[in-house]
Parts: sequence; structure tokens; C-alpha cells
Amino acid sequence: MTKPAYKTMGQQFGRRSWAEPWKIKMVEPIRIPGRGQRKKALIEAGYNTFLLPSEDVYIDLLTDSGTSAMSDRQWAGIMLGDEAYAGSRNFYHLEKAVQQYYGYRYVVPTHQGRGAEHMISQQCITKGQFVPGNMYFTTTRLHQELAGGSFVDVIIGQAHDPTNLHPFKGDVDLDKLEYLIKKEGAEKIAYVSLAGTVNMAGGQPVSMANVKALRILCNKYGVKIYLDATRMAENAYFIQQREEGYADKSVADILKEFCSYTDGAWMSAKKDHLVNIGGWIAVNSYDLFDALRNMVVVFEGLHTYGGMAGRDMEALSIGIAESVQDDHIHARVMQVQYLGELLIDWGIPIMRPVGGHAIFLDAKCFYPHISQDEFPAQTLAAELYLDSGVRSMERGIVSAGRDPATGDHRRPALELTRLAIPRRVYTQAHMDVVAEAIKAVFDKREQTRGLKMVYEPKVLRFFQARFEPLS
Ligand code: F0G
Repeated sequence: MTKPAYKTMGQQFGRRSWAEPWKIKMVEPIRIPGRGQRKKALIEAGYNTFLLPSEDVYIDLLTDSGTSAMSDRQWAGIMLGDEAYAGSRNFYHLEKAVQQYYGYRYVVPTHQGRGAEHMISQQCITKGQFVPGNMYFTTTRLHQELAGGSFVDVIIGQAHDPTNLHPFKGDVDLDKLEYLIKKEGAEKIAYVSLAGTVNMAGGQPVSMANVKALRILCNKYGVKIYLDATRMAENAYFIQQREEGYADKSVADILKEFCSYTDGAWMSAKKDHLVNIGGWIAVNSYDLFDALRNMVVVFEGLHTYGGMAGRDMEALSIGIAESVQDDHIHARVMQVQYLGELLIDWGIPIMRPVGGHAIFLDAKCFYPHISQDEFPAQTLAAELYLDSGVRSMERGIVSAGRDPATGDHRRPALELTRLAIPRRVYTQAHMDVVAEAIKAVFDKREQTRGLKMVYEPKVLRFFQARFEPLS
């Protein structure tokens, strides 16, 4: 098998190849369950990869969330946990790291991203308001809806086309946004919910030019911008690589500049920040901070721990500094690109350009004979596990859920199966194995049939839904 030559990024770094800026000090054995075991596990899991025990998984690409390998420095930080109920020294380290790298004034810790989403949604949305954003994310939109808001997608149209090669497919369509503000009135807009990179669009970045223009537009109407900063370090790397004027700036500087155009951010630290649990909200308004700090004690924990242990906050503060190192983020994104280029070379349909955290297989193209109501992306995730023990997840009609007003399935244009790459966990050899497994499933795509849903939870159904093969 020939490996792809790195034409673009490798050349920019003046060398033919790249390698991770670390060596491995400790390993966790993994095993390949036999085919009989995989079949049994898949049936018991109702063909939903979320319901598989991890012991039955070989290479786990379900998510890049909370699955990173921590550094020796972070593990050392774990030993420095100050487990005081109030005022833990580790909280002050965290607060300082967020202020230093993201530039916001006030910080409230939370147990993970959705704790932060719950609070920002409850504080900033009143019933009947609209929340425009650059494509929905499952938990984000649910919290916006639970607060009485309606999410409106204002991402550029190119984001909905897996073959379009726009370098910043996460950009907001400013005309769409302005149309909505004018039509509904600025007072009906809760805030702009901006995410970088955009998970459901394939890990696609937002450009600096776009966020600058967005700031100007929002100032005109007095609308706030809150940022889902979950994968903003990866977004900053893409700006450095792709946007004019940023090639000589560090990822850390780009990240801080980007945040300066927004009014605050929430974070699932389980991604960029290289920890297994954690999150935060940071804002510039004292009044909003005060309200969030009041609320956090009800739902998460005291405002100096927000659901994390002192040791978690220490590992997190160290992770924040590591996450914006240029050599780290380069190797992280290049590993994803490596897998993507192998698949592209073999003619396998994936979302392009390759994003920052994951490969998204285009299940509609993979299985043109399976209708969206027969869950092609769910089918593909199940087939891939069955073939090789590689775990991925559905990001299509199941993830999109039902429209609360009509009760119908939401039918997203993108029907994708995501293979998210944990940070600092797998090697290039693992990526080769994954690519070959996808190829094997692709080669027998015509014999594959879809699924029917036999159990459907009310909210966030993709986590626990159960399926059976169509006979
Ligand atoms: N925002 C984005 C963009 C996310 O990707 C996630 C989680 C969250 C918010 C919620 O954060 O999980 O810490 O509560 N994404 C995970 C994933 C689950 O697999 O993409 P959380």
C-alpha cells in the first residue's frame, strides 16, 4: 500500500515528514475481539456504538472527548491537587490560564461542556428568542431549546456540501444573519452562538476575517457573540495555515485575537485541553459573571471548583498551556490529515477538506441505495465495528433528532459517520489499520442493508437509541 505524499502542509514546514513532539512513557494494552464476539456485542448494543462496552472495542474513535493522553506534567499536576472545598489553589491556576490564553476577564468552572451550555443558555436566552449559529451541535442546541430559544442555522451554504473545498467552511453567512436580525428584530436575538471548529460540519474552521466582520455586524445591532471554544486551538491552527497574514503568528496569539472579537466563551475542556474531564465559561461582563457564579453553585458545585476536583483543575490548567503549542497542534491535526489523505487516495467519500479532529465518512455517498430513513451513517458505524472492532459514531439523521414543533425527523443535508481521533493516543500504524478497515467495508458496500430504529429516547436519542437490521 502506498502512503500519500504530503504536498501541502509538509512543504510549508520545510520537511518531508512530521512526527509527534513526544515519546511514549506508559502504554495501555488493547486487544482485537474476534468476529463472533464483535457480532454478539453489536447485537447486544442494539447496533449503536455508544452502547458497546469499551472492552469489546479495538481502536476507539467514538470521540476525541475526554479520551486524550495526559502528559507527564499533567499527571504530576494531579498530585498537586488542593482538595479544599473553597478557594483551591488549582482554581486560581485555571482562572489565570484561561485569562492568559483566551483573554476573557471572568472564569466560572464547570464539570464539562454541557454544564457550561446549560448555564449560558439559561442566563442569556428568554423564551421565544432566536439563537443563530454556525451549525447546530447536539447538546448546545438542546440547552438552547430547553431555555425557550430556537436555534437558526446561519453557516455558509458550502458547509452543507461534503465535496466543497472552501478553506473556512465554518464561516457565518453574514447576509443570512442580518436578514434574520432585520426580520425578527434585534431584541429577539439572544446572541450569536459561534463555534470554532464546527464539529457537525466535519471539524471545519472559522476565519479571522469572518469573526471580525461578524463583530462589526453584531455591534451594529447590539447583539452579543458567545463562542463555543471547545476546539478553538485547532481552529487557530487552520487560520495560521490558511489565512493570509497569519503564517508567522503563533497559534496562541491567533487564539487570543479570535476570542477578542467575542463577548465570552464556553468550553468542553475534554477536547483541546487534553484532560479527561472539565469545562468552564468565561465572560467579560461582570453582571453576567455574577449571575453565572450564582447559578453554578446550584447545578455544578462551588464557583471555585464547578464539579471538578482540585487535581482535575491542575491537570486542566497545564493542558491549556500545552494545547496551544505549535508543534503539538501541528502533529495533532496532521495525524487526522494523514488518515484523511489515505482515504481520499482510495476514492472513499469523506467530508472535505479534512477537518481538525475527525474524519467524517459521507454515508449518503457510501450507501446511495440506503435511504436516510434507514440510517445510512448508523449502518456504516455498525458495519465498521463488525469488520474490525473500530468504533465510530453516527452524525446524521439520528443525531439531528426530531423537530420539537412537528415531531418529524430532522433530515440534515449531511449524513456522516465520524471517526474522531483522540489526542496523543494512537500511532500512524493505527491510522493505517483504520483506513484498511474502512476500505474493506467500502468494498462490500453494495451488499449492505440499512437499519430500523426499535427504541427511541426522547432527547439526544443518538446516545441510547437501539436498532435492528432490515430483513
Ligand atoms: N460543544 C462541542 C462543539 C462539542 O463537540 C461538545 C461535545 C460539547 C459542546 C459538549 O461538551 O461533552 O463536555 O459536555 N462533544 C463530544 C463529541 C461529546 O464527541 O463531539 P461535553
